[in-house]
Amino acid sequence: MTQSFDVAVIGAGPGGYVAAIRCAQLGLNTISIDEWENSQGKASLGGTCLNVGCIPSKALLESSENYERAAHKFSAHGIKLQDLSIDVPVMIARKDKIVSSFTGGIAMLFRKNKITAMHGRGTLLKSNNEREAWQVEVKNGDKVEVVEAKHIIIATGSTPRLLSMAPVDNERILDNVGALALTEIPQRLGVIGAGVIGLEMGSVWRRLGSEVTILESLPAFLSAADEQIAKEAQKIFTKELGLLIQTGIKISAIRSSNESITVEYTDSQGELLKLEVDKLIVAVGRVPNTSGLGAENVGLKLDGHGRIEVDGHCRTNLSNVYAVGDVVRGPMLAHKASEEGSAVAEIIAGQAGHVDLNTIPWVIYTSPEIAWVGKNEQELKSAGVQYKVGQFPFMANGRARALGETSGFVKVIADADTDRILGIHMIGPYVSEMISEAVVAMEFAASSEDIARIVHAHPSLSEVLHEAALSLDKRALHI
Ligand code: FAD
Ligand code: NAI
Repeated sequence: MTQSFDVAVIGAGPGGYVAAIRCAQLGLNTISIDEWENSQGKASLGGTCLNVGCIPSKALLESSENYERAAHKFSAHGIKLQDLSIDVPVMIARKDKIVSSFTGGIAMLFRKNKITAMHGRGTLLKSNNEREAWQVEVKNGDKVEVVEAKHIIIATGSTPRLLSMAPVDNERILDNVGALALTEIPQRLGVIGAGVIGLEMGSVWRRLGSEVTILESLPAFLSAADEQIAKEAQKIFTKELGLLIQTGIKISAIRSSNESITVEYTDSQGELLKLEVDKLIVAVGRVPNTSGLGAENVGLKLDGHGRIEVDGHCRTNLSNVYAVGDVVRGPMLAHKASEEGSAVAEIIAGQAGHVDLNTIPWVIYTSPEIAWVGKNEQELKSAGVQYKVGQFPFMANGRARALGETSGFVKVIADADTDRILGIHMIGPYVSEMISEAVVAMEFAASSEDIARIVHAHPSLSEVLHEAALSLDKRALHI
């Protein structure tokens, strides 16, 4: 007999697993269908984020940052180390352990919330009009089952965008999966794409000793960030970290031999150059994952970018079918996917779920970190909005000095007439934690004056945000 549910969630990444838990909390009988298998061929919940994205990359960033501190920063504290070395397989095993504890944790949360978890690929078949339910086929090897659900939440995420010239084998030409699993430090590492993955993974292997060259096709570096922040980042990553970053390049060929990989490209001046590396990471963006979903079986509408078309409440063109996370419009971020998952569960349960895409924070976990929320200067200029800017450097902050992490600044942008905050942009130590204050301020429609009047603990990095808000009105105290 076909099993019937109130909700079937296809995909158990941060969008899908959070949606399933929230549905169950709201009393809906829920099934989660996910096809992810780890390197041992075992079902592993948590999608890209937990298995080969947010969590493992942050684990390696932390390990490599500790190594960098020990190698270059401890001596300033009078701490002397001899014969410093890094055991890469131990570092990778630590990362794997963190990943498996989290993916196992999701399985535990599913059991606790009485969510049925089914391993396999979910394909939408058709709607059963009599019972007002959708049918989903779940295929795992030779085993095929069909389940029914009144509501469907699609959270099938994204996969790396492929470059036909650089076929990924995850031995020498790597996507995020291979870049997170290297067991030796490559002497020469090439990265195609100076985006978020390129910078985070490039930082990890550079800190451990690789010579890292990043090739970026756009003339601008980190084009999604505020231009001033991006310029500061490029300066720091080049001068302090030693990443070689070339923008405005065009790749013409990639050749692989037993010894190395050669990338042929023209630089921004049109000069033909060659880069020879031992490993090559391809990180040129990600594409929505709708393959095998059966969109065509049921007439599910996709947009011009191959994403599932949704409205402001994540409703697709089909009744009772929703889509969330990387597979729909908006930034490809785990917390955005999770918030949409929660919101949709609440909508299905008759509540009022909503996600404001303008207050989704971005964080890039380089060193220094980069974080922002809201609009940047170039967006406001092109929209013709009048604004004012306040800025303050970490160099003038006591806590940053004590940490020995003084690069970067915080920038507050507010409406010229109303003083309402339009965007906050940061580059500096632990700004991944500081950005939450900016998000709260924007969610509460705060003015820069509100932040200027809030008491910030001393000495703390958060004082840099306080001073940036004060500086908007030329009242910064410590500069
Ligand atoms: P996913 O996490 O991609 O999950 C989708 C799931 O659906 C997968 O398990 C997939 O196997 C499954 N699936 C797909 N099709 C089917 C089907 N037909 N049937 C059954 N199952 C199916 N974001 C951040 O916010 N912070 C970070 O620090 C961060 N770091 C990242 C680092 C890297 C290296 C990468 C690659 C990404 C990172 N991201 C980060 C992005 C983040 O991982 C994604 O935004 C997030 O995982 C999207 O969640 P999702 O639920 O939409 O999809
Ligand atoms: P990205 O979109 O951030 O960057 C890709 C870069 O590759 C762009 O700068 C693009 O111009 C460049 N590019 C594209 N084609 C190229 C070519 N042929 N030659 C040279 N350069 C080329 O994509 P990325 O780094 O793959 O990451 C995908 C997404 O994953 C991110 O956009 C983000 O949404 C998410 N992510 C988030 C993280 C975080 O929140 N800290 C960390 C890692 C990923």
